[in-house]
Amino acid sequence: MGRYTPKMYSDEVEQQVQHFKREGVKLPPRSVLRTPQQIEGIRAACAINTALLDYVAQNIQEGMSTADIDHLVYAFTTDHDAIPAPFLYDGFPKSVCTSINDVVCHGIPSPNEKLKNGDIINVDVSTIYKGYFADASRMFLIGNVSPEMRRLVEVTRECRDIGVRTAQPWARLGDVGAAIQEHAEKNGYSVVRDLCGHGCGIKFHEEPDVEHFGRRGTGMLIVPGMTFTIEPMINMGRYEVFVDEADGWTVCTDDGLPSAQWESMILITENGNEVLTE
Ligand code: MF3
Ligand code: CO
Repeated sequence: MGRYTPKMYSDEVEQQVQHFKREGVKLPPRSVLRTPQQIEGIRAACAINTALLDYVAQNIQEGMSTADIDHLVYAFTTDHDAIPAPFLYDGFPKSVCTSINDVVCHGIPSPNEKLKNGDIINVDVSTIYKGYFADASRMFLIGNVSPEMRRLVEVTRECRDIGVRTAQPWARLGDVGAAIQEHAEKNGYSVVRDLCGHGCGIKFHEEPDVEHFGRRGTGMLIVPGMTFTIEPMINMGRYEVFVDEADGWTVCTDDGLPSAQWESMILITENGNEVLTE
């Protein structure tokens, strides 16, 4: 059996990889295992991304439009010598995704869409800094949100956190999906199947896909040096979604019931993981 080339971080990591390779476990491609220099660059992008979400948190309020959020994001990002990654990504027209109530993700900011009392909104921001990528999203509650929707937002955050805790070196991606799915379904919710987390750092979206449902002991091995997102989209009702044909982006729940999402990016280390964005 050949080496897992080129050489990995340490002999211990190399030995573990060889062990799992002999067992026939699917390994991440070498290209998604970051060098120390890449990790420094990714951390810097992530720091701006987190400060940006803090800035959104300080400014978001009832009555403002989602286009106002887009302007905040564009201004803050460019003021920090960074680029909003969504802008013109695959033709996406704005700098941020804003997804309200039954919008699952990829909502396009608009001057005609105002934040109303009782809304829940996901603000998903992604930053390019010196060529490195960061990604994260949070939920915000506008005014008096119903207890049912508040619980959806809280449980979804727990799903993200459980996913992060499960994403340990030498675990499998299926372990992460299974843990998230169990927590969502135990609470009477469903996990969106059609969209997933992803490798992130050198590109916006790279290997692997990180599904938020699945079976333990299956899927790719989690190896030190990987950086990827965990971003469960949890529906109050059924998990089916559709893409709005009018804009080609906005993903909505089929049944019209609310959906929530929280997204973090993590770095897998030799003895655990480091939360890079939240
Ligand atoms: N930020 C989203 C994610 O979490 C991706 C948005 S793609 C865009 O992966 F083009 F809509 F910005
Ligand atoms: Co993402």
